[in-house]
Formats: sequence, C-alpha cells, structure tokens
Amino acid sequence: MESLIIQGGNRLKGTIPVSGAKNAALPIMAACILCEGETILHNVPDLRDVRQMCVLLNRLGVETERDKSGALHLRAEDEMNCHAEYELVSKMRASICVLGPLLAKRRKAQISMPGGCAIGDRPVRLHIQGLEALGADTDLVNGDFVMKAKKLRGSELFLGGAFGSTVTGTANVLMAAVLAEGRTVIESAACEPEIVDLADFLNKCGARIEGQGTPRIVVEGVASLHGAEHTVIPDRIEAGTFMIAAAVSNGELTLKDCRIDHLVAFVDTLRRVGLNIEKGDKGVNVSSSRRLDPTEITTQPYPGFPTDLQAQTMVLLSLADGNSVITEKIFPDRFLHVAELNRMGTRLRKEGPTVIVEGVKKLVGAPVMASDLRASAALVLAGLLAKGQTRVQRMYHLDRGYEKIEEKLKAVGADVRRVTDSI
Ligand code: EPZ
Repeated sequence: MESLIIQGGNRLKGTIPVSGAKNAALPIMAACILCEGETILHNVPDLRDVRQMCVLLNRLGVETERDKSGALHLRAEDEMNCHAEYELVSKMRASICVLGPLLAKRRKAQISMPGGCAIGDRPVRLHIQGLEALGADTDLVNGDFVMKAKKLRGSELFLGGAFGSTVTGTANVLMAAVLAEGRTVIESAACEPEIVDLADFLNKCGARIEGQGTPRIVVEGVASLHGAEHTVIPDRIEAGTFMIAAAVSNGELTLKDCRIDHLVAFVDTLRRVGLNIEKGDKGVNVSSSRRLDPTEITTQPYPGFPTDLQAQTMVLLSLADGNSVITEKIFPDRFLHVAELNRMGTRLRKEGPTVIVEGVKKLVGAPVMASDLRASAALVLAGLLAKGQTRVQRMYHLDRGYEKIEEKLKAVGADVRRVTDSI
C-alpha cells in the first residue's frame, strides 16, 4: 500500500490545472454501450475509477483505448455479456451506471447490488423504480439485480427520494429513456453539471433531451445512437479542494480550467468565510485573508452546497475565529474523517448528522488513515497546514478521484512525496 508524506507549513503559490470530472466521465463512458460506432472522449482523467470502468466495459464487450494525445476511444463490439459481476461492482459504486444502457441497448442487465461504503448505505431502489416505470422487469438472483425489457416505453416518472434526487439514478433512467419508445418525463431529476454533461454528450450521439440541469428532463426516444467526440467538463470537486488548499496554506493559487459557475454555493460560502476568489484571464485566482470567519453549512443536492466538499471545508473552518456548524443532509454518516482530523488537533464534535467545528490556532502532523475519497482529500489538506509531518495512509482512496495530486501540489510548492508502506 502507498502513503503520502506531507511536511506542513509551505505556502502554495502558482497555477494548478483542474482535470476532467470523474463523475461526468464515468456515466458518459457507460453511455457508449448505447452507441453504434466509435466515441472519442477528451479530458477524461487518468484515475483508478476510470481504469476500473474500462475493465468493466471491456468485460461487457466495449473496447477502450487511450491514444497518444490521452483521448479515450470507446466502441461497443460485442453485446453478448450483460453481467456486471460483483467483484467489479463492489469496487466502484459508479459501476451501477451500466444498468440503464445495458437494459436499453441489449434488453437485459445483470448487476450486483452495490455494497455499502465508507460514506454510508448506497441504495439503488430509485434506479430500479425509474427503470421499471419504463417497462423493465426486475428479479433479485444471488445478490444480483436481473432486469429485462422486451421494449422500453416512455413514461412520466418521479425520481425523488428521502434525500432529494439521485445523481446516478438520473443518469441510469436518462440513458434508458433515450432509446425507449415515445416521450419520457423525469420529475425531480438531479441537476448536477455532470448530468448536464451526460445529456449534452447523448444529444451529440443523436438523442433528443431537453431540460438537463433542471429538475424536469424531457426525452423523446430515438431508434439508435451513433458515437460522438466530446470533451468532459472540468472536475468541480477537485477545483473546490484546491481552493481550500490555497486558503489553508495562506497561499495564492490560479486554478486553470475551473468552471466557477459549477460551484456557486461553495464559492459563496468561501467568500463569506474570508477567501478572495476572482475569475482572471488565466483562470480562477484564490487567496485568503489571514482571519477566517466561522459559518454554518448544510449539504444539499445541486445547486446547494456539495456533499463532496464537506470534509475538505471542515478543515478550512477548523482555522476560523469561532465555532462553525456543518450538517450533512445527503449522506448523514459521511463523517469518518472527524476522528482522524481530531488526531491532528482539530476540535470536532459530532452530534448526529451535524458536526460542531471549534476554531483552533494550529494543527499538528500525525499518521492518519484515509477511509474514503473525499475524507482522504481532507487529510491531505490538513497535512498541508499542520506543523510537522503527516502520513496519509491508504492512498488508493485518493487515487480514485484525484489525478496526479502529489505532482500538482508539489508544482505549487507543497512538500509532499508518495512512499510505499513496508507492511
Ligand atoms: C453521486 O453518487 C456521486 N458519485 C457522489 O460522489 C456524490 O456524493 C453523490 O452523487 C451526491 O452528490 C458519482 O456520480 C459516481 P445519489 P450517487 O444517488 O449517485 C440516496 C465522490 O466522492 N438514494 O445522488 O450514488 C442516497 O443514499 C462520490 O465522487 C436513495 O435513497 O448518489 C443518498 O442519501 C461520493 N435511493 C442520496 O440519495 C436511491 O435509489 C443521494 O445519492 C439512490 C440514492
């Protein structure tokens, strides 16, 4: 296993490139199951989850290949296998995104129920209900969902659950609806930019989708889709993570290829806390005033405050003058980073789905354990500002969603290095 060793205290200065969005690339890659012919995707980040999705797609008869420029070529060659096995699905929740395309294109899909993970239970009932509304039948066989449909027919369906809409659920239903007969209206659809990017890609392939980015998406089914060339949007969660890196190190970063319009709620919060965030001609410039103000945050579905930046923002608010309150409304158990951060000197107190963040003067480096993708990012941010050395273990969590993170941080002055653990 690998760890990241961070010597804290360096001010980060310079330009940092934002990679393509993991959560847009993954469903778009799955959507290639629907297409006749080749698709070429640009700005697909080189991440563990992307490589995992390539392995799954290869098993499902979709050829994938990176060319010299880094573009990812995908082409569905063989439609025989419709089974996404447990050993692949259990490693990555986003594997569920092959469900809708398999059902729509091959009329059958067998996929294991994704297990829980560090951020809590990950149900898929809304996905199943949405696809059944389009005419699919479902069986549960040895922990696998087996879904079949002679013909999918458009329908008006509601995708809202107790925690708001579902992002990958919206992706699955959308990808099934594009080849269904007739019109589909998805009410309470997810509005995330990643869903907009998926819909824009599908429309380039010949689909007829309107309303993406709003809670009401309308799809007119078509007979078939062709491949297309598409550039994936920048990763707003990676960009938000680097904004906080600038603030906690008292540095000044310019984020290249950052779509600040995808981070309105988050940037609004950071500005209120005391960060200077301005769009410049080379990218988005981020710095912070020495004094940070406490605030209250509640995570919400887009365009609200993103749950994927909750852990990272907790590190920032630990430096504010006073107490802040963070309430997690999307994944109420998404607080595994709290105990690890407290080992570094934060004063975080969990009360159910809320954490009270007491402002402290400094953090101290320590060996800490990564538990999930965004919690790992929070530990790296804490290591950047902590006095002394921090060792973030289990880097495979971070590699799922952050491309070349130590290279990017080193290039703007961080003292970080990746090591292989002896045990
Ligand atoms: C997507 O996960 C993202 N992953 C997550 O990012 C992100 O945290 C999440 O959306 C919320 O924004 C990808 O896009 C690959 P949901 P997803 O279905 O689609 C409940 C990261 O760090 N729910 O929108 O799995 C669910 O329990 C990852 O990059 C049901 O109740 O999330 C949760 O409370 C982590 N029933 C809420 O909805 C369902 O059938 C939102 O989940 C489905 C979901």
